[in-house]
Amino acid sequence: MNIEKIIEERTSWLKWKNIAPIREAMERLPAIPDARLQLGDWVTLASERVTSDQTEAIERVAKMMMPWRKGPFDLFGVKIDSEWRSFEKYNLLRPYMDLEGKHVCDVGCNNGYYMFRMLEFSPRSVLGIDPSPLFYSQFDLINRYARAGNLRYEMLGIEHMAGFGEIFDTIFCLGVLYHRSDPVAALKSLKQSLKKGGELFLDTFMIEGEEPVCLVPESTYSKIGNVHFVPTVTALHHWFKKAGFERFEVLKIVKTEPQEQRKTAWITGQSLEDFLDPGNPELTVEGYPAPKRVYVRAYKK
Ligand SMILES: C[S@@+](CC[C@H](N)C(=O)[O-])C[C@H]1O[C@@H](n2cnc3c(N)ncnc32)[C@H](O)[C@@H]1O
Repeated sequence: MNIEKIIEERTSWLKWKNIAPIREAMERLPAIPDARLQLGDWVTLASERVTSDQTEAIERVAKMMMPWRKGPFDLFGVKIDSEWRSFEKYNLLRPYMDLEGKHVCDVGCNNGYYMFRMLEFSPRSVLGIDPSPLFYSQFDLINRYARAGNLRYEMLGIEHMAGFGEIFDTIFCLGVLYHRSDPVAALKSLKQSLKKGGELFLDTFMIEGEEPVCLVPESTYSKIGNVHFVPTVTALHHWFKKAGFERFEVLKIVKTEPQEQRKTAWITGQSLEDFLDPGNPELTVEGYPAPKRVYVRAYKK
């Protein structure tokens, strides 16, 4: 697999007609030389000299980039209150993170919210991969001002991870595995890009039960298409073993609540409250158990 060639091909996606006007509008945005990044639950860009004309221009471009699923971000006072309060997930994993001087990869990084947050640990590098040109552009908008040189984003997918070779100390793969039709192959692909002894943090939808079994949604799960398997923790553990990971550790199990995922002015369409059975919030509209996630960590042998 020639990763550089795939990256080059995918960069040409930015010329597609739906994304090109957004990219052009972003290129015309003003420079803000004293912009600085402040890290907290809101990833914030601050400046003493920004003008109201400049923030209005930034807000217009940010609105062209809707939906903002992950965040929140505060861009010089433009408050992008994303659908997900992603700090809930980040803060849950934060006590387990030891990223100083490490090569890190965030697989399915969306707009890079976690990548910016990880800068607090002074990693050597953080590569985010996600095939979406829109989320890539959201990242570009923020990093155009944050200028974080050790962050890199490529429009690749989990299926390309093996092409990197054994280079990462730590990989995050959050909210991606249930979208893969072959979860063991996906885990193997992650493992191939980890150094020996490297760690993987992963979260996925799960169902309760001791048996090594999965829910296989007939079509959608919680109105999300492309959800192939929702495992018990035991089934997930078995997938990790088959893929060659060791020291599988459950960090936390969390039910998705409306305080974490809800409709805001920065998304189009529906959110969690529309995905649950109005008569019984323990079930999805399809009648499956309501979304619950397990957070795990494991190591490459
Ligand atoms: C449910 S979101 C999870 C985002 C983020 N990791 C989180 O946990 O908050 C799934 C993400 O996976 C991305 N994605 C889609 N296909 C992918 C692929 N083949 N490989 C990696 N990521 C993919 C989507 O664009 C989206 O940003």
